[in-house]
Amino acid sequence: MLYLIGLGLHSLDDLSLGGLKALKESDKVFVESYTSFHTLDLKELEQLCGKEVVALERAGVEEDLVKNLIEPAKTETVSLLVFGDPLVATTHASIITEARKAGVDVHVIHASSIVSAVGECGLQVYKFGRVATLNLPQEGYAPTSAYDLIKSNKDAGLHSLILLDVKSEEGKYMTVAEGVKELLRLEGEKRGGLFSHETMLVACARLGAQDSVIRYARAGDLLTADFGGPPHALILPGKLHFTEEEFLENLK
Ligand SMILES: C[S@@+](CC[C@H](N)C(=O)[O-])C[C@H]1O[C@@H](n2cnc3c(N)ncnc32)[C@H](O)[C@@H]1O
Repeated sequence: MLYLIGLGLHSLDDLSLGGLKALKESDKVFVESYTSFHTLDLKELEQLCGKEVVALERAGVEEDLVKNLIEPAKTETVSLLVFGDPLVATTHASIITEARKAGVDVHVIHASSIVSAVGECGLQVYKFGRVATLNLPQEGYAPTSAYDLIKSNKDAGLHSLILLDVKSEEGKYMTVAEGVKELLRLEGEKRGGLFSHETMLVACARLGAQDSVIRYARAGDLLTADFGGPPHALILPGKLHFTEEEFLENLK
């Protein structure tokens, strides 16, 4: 049996009782540490579930999927913990496909996710379009697809959740200010009329934590704003309902 268990957005308090029960039943427990930043205390988690918890980096999950997870799950109960919800903005559906192909039963235990927590910004979740991701700058790689995706959401009147890349293995994450800078750079390249210094954006950090921050501000002002530690995200609102407008006014 293979469990995919969501850790939720912030601390161990976000782990569900069902998740904890599955961990206690497990012979092997892994945590995937690369798709988001989390203030997880591994020792506290080990005490809670009464066994060793092994952190896996990207290669440990993607390249060594069969060796680390699927083979052991044929005879034992194996759990993989994932930050947020295990199936939101990750490629972990492929783990389920591969496990089922190998005859392994999979059970998913869901948890709080950026995709639902974004409702805290006052925008109706059913009015969001496709989720975009901005990547940290990489030598010779400057994709523009996020811009096209945000443009098609905006043209349809939909809000855009813009995830900001994390490379937790390297301790790097994109800040709100860097994300806005990248959006303005993309505007300079694509010229679709989406972003200027005057564009109003919602910026948020560490949703779900006691010290979470949410602000509705001009892009020009966000360029110099400090939102503290990760993770950060941005939202370009689409067509606003008057109740959403009222909510956003209070975030200025
Ligand atoms: C690749 S996604 C993984 C999402 C995760 N599986 C989930 O369900 O929330 C990670 C990105 O989501 C955003 N994010 C995740 N948690 C967040 C939080 N608590 N506050 C703000 N943004 C967050 C950040 O942009 C981060 O880089």
